[in-house]
Amino acid sequence: MRAVLCKELGGPETLVVEDVPSPPLGAGQVRMDIHAAGLNFADSLVIQGKYQERQEPPFTPGMEISGVVTEIGDGVDHLAVGNKAIAMCGVGGYAEEIVTDADWVLPVPDHVDMVQAAGFPVAYGTSHLALEHRAHLKEGEVLLVLGASGGVGLTAVEIGKAMGATVIAAASSPEKLDVARQYGADYGIDYTKEDIRDRVKELTGGADVVYDPVGGDAFQQALRSINWEGRIIIIGFASGTIQQVPSNYILLKNCSVMGALWGAYRRRDPATMRKSMDTLIQWFADGKLKPHSSHQLPLEKAGEALQLLIDRKSTGKVVLTTGRG
Ligand SMILES: NC(=O)c1ccc[n+]([C@@H]2O[C@H](COP(=O)([O-])OP(=O)(O)OC[C@H]3O[C@@H](n4cnc5c(N)ncnc54)[C@H](OP(=O)(O)O)[C@@H]3O)[C@@H](O)[C@H]2O)c1
Repeated sequence: MRAVLCKELGGPETLVVEDVPSPPLGAGQVRMDIHAAGLNFADSLVIQGKYQERQEPPFTPGMEISGVVTEIGDGVDHLAVGNKAIAMCGVGGYAEEIVTDADWVLPVPDHVDMVQAAGFPVAYGTSHLALEHRAHLKEGEVLLVLGASGGVGLTAVEIGKAMGATVIAAASSPEKLDVARQYGADYGIDYTKEDIRDRVKELTGGADVVYDPVGGDAFQQALRSINWEGRIIIIGFASGTIQQVPSNYILLKNCSVMGALWGAYRRRDPATMRKSMDTLIQWFADGKLKPHSSHQLPLEKAGEALQLLIDRKSTGKVVLTTGRG
């Protein structure tokens, strides 16, 4: 089978595609034919050795996939050969085939689009858990989403709207804000031209919840727009600058700054993660969620595909297809 390999740590241009042997199947695992793999900004850090969870080369990046179950290991009873499924595989997704822990392989109905499904788990999982379980976003509250047209950002807009919030999208261009509006954003702020704090104050008087996968200046401005007893959820640092919190602000506004690291729930609180994923897959199957992918590229173009994320050229998800679907 063909797989993308990171043979030495470096940028997307260092990735190669090679024929590799199919891995053996162990107890508690399944083998899947991969139809598509969702890309994540974190993959661009993993291949450079800059992500919190390190991988030793050679390895195949890719945290999430969609495909069909082709073989079942001992002790697996919630899946059958032929099931369409998504897998939260952590690593190994940019390939034609994977052997992965069955616990995090979740069946999806036959009518589900497999390209959409590939980029579904990480982005929707993160936003649902962050907004519901961590920030307890309530109907009628104001949600400010930074990087609102990106992979996780756009799902925060969509889920926030579904939870009854007034959603303010902040992004770097009018085109990106248009995408966020199509997913339910009530207002848009172009943070390359407008001050986030000033605009939020004008639009709604303040934000109750801030969802931040960006960091840097955008975070500093967003912090100053927070309402009394507001919640700021730190999701990531796509800008490259980690959020620094002036604690006097936290005290004066009686607000909370919290982290939401979705992947950590897999080990620390799998029941909460499972409940969230079950809800999301049901909404997806019912057509209540419409995963957006601006670019689909073949496996051979994995480096080019990751570069789109680094260059801020994508909206929603970038997805790799294997031709096996
Ligand atoms: N906490 C978790 O569990 C979790 C889960 C998934 C992702 N994340 C983190 O969330 C962040 C976004 O991930 P993603 O997969 O959604 O990425 P993505 O699709 O590339 O979106 C990132 C967004 O950040 C904005 N951005 C601002 N400065 C940027 C820069 N210098 N380079 C790239 N993007 C920049 C871009 O929007 P504008 O151009 O509009 O500014 C872009 O749309 C990453 O830091 C990732 O590690 C965390």
